[in-house]
Amino acid sequence: MKLFIISNRLPINIFRDKKGTIQFQKSAGGLATGLNSLRTKMEKHWIGWPGMNVDNNKEKNSIIQKLESQNYHPVFLSTKQINYYYEGYSNSTLWPLLHYFYSFVEYNNRYWETYKEVNNLFASNTLKLIKPGDIVWVQDYQLMLVPKLLRDKMPDISIAYFHHVPFPSYEMFRVLPERAELLEGLLGSDLIGFHTYDYMRHFISAVERVLHYKSNLDQITLAKRKVYVNAFPMGINYKKYNDAPKTAIAKKINKELCQNYGKRKLILSVDRLDYSKGIIHRIKGFAQFLKHHPEYHDKVSMIMVTVPSRDKVIRYAQLKKQIDESISSINGVYSTINWTPIHYFYHSLPFEELTALYHRADIGLITPLRDGMNLVSKEYLAAKRDNPGVLILSEMAGAAIELSEAIIINPNDINQIEESIVQALQMPEEEQLRRLHEMQKIIKKHDVKQWASTIIKELMNINKLNKHINEKIINAKIISEIKKAYKKADHRLILFDYDGTLSAFYNKPEDAYPRKKILDLLKAFNEDKRNELLLSSGRDRKNLEEWFGPLQIDMEAEHGAAYKKNNVWHERVINGTWDKEIIDILQTYADKTPGSHIEKKETALVWHYRCVDSWLATLREQQLINALISPCSRLGLQIMRGNKIIEIKSSLYSKSSGIKELIADSTYDFILCIGDDVTDEDMFRVLPSTAITIKVGDQSDLAKFNIPLQEDVSPFLTQFITTAEGND
Ligand code: UDP
Ligand code: G6P
Repeated sequence: MKLFIISNRLPINIFRDKKGTIQFQKSAGGLATGLNSLRTKMEKHWIGWPGMNVDNNKEKNSIIQKLESQNYHPVFLSTKQINYYYEGYSNSTLWPLLHYFYSFVEYNNRYWETYKEVNNLFASNTLKLIKPGDIVWVQDYQLMLVPKLLRDKMPDISIAYFHHVPFPSYEMFRVLPERAELLEGLLGSDLIGFHTYDYMRHFISAVERVLHYKSNLDQITLAKRKVYVNAFPMGINYKKYNDAPKTAIAKKINKELCQNYGKRKLILSVDRLDYSKGIIHRIKGFAQFLKHHPEYHDKVSMIMVTVPSRDKVIRYAQLKKQIDESISSINGVYSTINWTPIHYFYHSLPFEELTALYHRADIGLITPLRDGMNLVSKEYLAAKRDNPGVLILSEMAGAAIELSEAIIINPNDINQIEESIVQALQMPEEEQLRRLHEMQKIIKKHDVKQWASTIIKELMNINKLNKHINEKIINAKIISEIKKAYKKADHRLILFDYDGTLSAFYNKPEDAYPRKKILDLLKAFNEDKRNELLLSSGRDRKNLEEWFGPLQIDMEAEHGAAYKKNNVWHERVINGTWDKEIIDILQTYADKTPGSHIEKKETALVWHYRCVDSWLATLREQQLINALISPCSRLGLQIMRGNKIIEIKSSLYSKSSGIKELIADSTYDFILCIGDDVTDEDMFRVLPSTAITIKVGDQSDLAKFNIPLQEDVSPFLTQFITTAEGND
């Protein structure tokens, strides 16, 4: 078994030096460190773009050969692909949308077409390397279609996807024309990870609303698989940042910093040049601080490290100009011969310099308007060691959830930026250290190694769970064994549920009338003298009689309230009139919940919510149950949660009532029971262990086997009936 990481960039960058020779530069990003530290016997491979356009085939081959020894597999992108996939769809459409910069989103069909083309390219390069049973871990928003592309071609691999950026609320995500394809793409994974529970919640809500798939807590149910979703806040290589200030070179740099900045308080900000990082707001906040607090002039400087990023994308180029102008305007106003308020670096710093700055800075001012996680905030804390310092952190960064001892601010509020700088400057050292140590404990424990290994471990567990699930799914071998037992038996009991089992669910319940194929099947099962057939439904007797009366089969209506035996209907409960209080409660909920309605059966009341928005349905379902508990318990009624219904009925009978009577009197040598709903579990529960119980849709602990898709029930049953024609 091998592990394949697929990310837009390889952890190695190639570039041409001044002479035009290709050079390789390792990037020590968090992910690479996390994976390097993974203790696993699996061989690790990495597939990604090496960061530069290479047209010459000879050069490409030499790069491939050079990287192969490290298990790096480059995906080469053409200039057009870099423009439309990387700068275009990834960074001019998805990035602004995912970071709530709605007005920055660019729609261009060529971007989307190229995004699909490049995702296909990554997938096809991967498929050349992987084998069934391998593990694939796809990274980030540039490759959202890759999980499905891989799953479609190779179903037997384990796929995890991690989303390193925010996942916005459904209201934001829904504006994307390609929302459905992107979500379907991600659902090719077995496990989808986000930095926070909020992003996870937003994602699940988008899946429910856009694709109408069912979800249960952290699981999304697809036709034949489950996809697991979870939050895994990414950590840093704590030890590396914590140890950095101890080295001789760090001490030397620290000395230089002391010479350059003296005793001045230093405020540090470090980010890629990106509009999501709130750089302009931060500069404005610092300017306001200088304006309102002349007492700090000459005593405080801000060091802004801004790493060039995506500079061919127009919004980034514009921002660069804006930053340059804002900084020179402030420095122009406040600088003295001995003091510069803002020291601005527009380039990446070597690790030793960066960590020395982290160690020395009195304040880490990190104010993104939106940030998936923000690793800089964690690196700052780790590199501080025991040196006092205060972290001011935006509440819009994923990191704010773990780093609650920071001064948490709203980065849009310039006043708060100003006030938090003053608060940090005035914070007693003792408190600074207390907060620092609290946060260090957290990030030391949840470091990048733990992050990576938790995700891989969880993927392996899902792998095991899936195997277990697959064992229950009816396959040719199981079918042949059931058929053998069926053939051999002389006295069989056959129990069928109707809606969701023999018929699909329809938005309008009346559309579920039995098609000819189903009537033929029931007739054929009933005509075999060795069979005792019972159709057990939640529908009322009038409806069942209308649809199935001519077949003269035995039936149970309204979950066992009435039953038909030898062509005569009997009642287990006498229907009475419904309590007005209960009717009123149900009516109120039907009125205030668009898409829901009440069904009045002879012995049960049902609130149907199949067509209700999923979030509203969850809310109303809970509210309705709460409202019903007291009157129902007073009247001895049972509240049942079914498939998109809540049913109120007498607690004196259930779908098991008739079955208990049947199995008490007779000796069957073959029992087959098929159902899809929680109400059908009442049947599974009372049957002997030799019975063949089959749950349709989701699996049930009470049923031996599973048919995931309702449409596969009729072909399964047809195999037992040689005379059934099978035409609709
Ligand atoms: N970084 C760097 N060189 C620099 C400044 C920053 O390598 O001169 C690194 C920094 O150490 C951090 C990363 O860039 O690991 C930025 O990650 P973060 O999550 O803060 O933001 P992102 O750039 O991913 O949006
Ligand atoms: C963010 C994204 C990463 C991306 C990084 C640098 O952290 O989540 O996927 O690699 O920014 O951006 P770049 O466009 O230079 O790869």
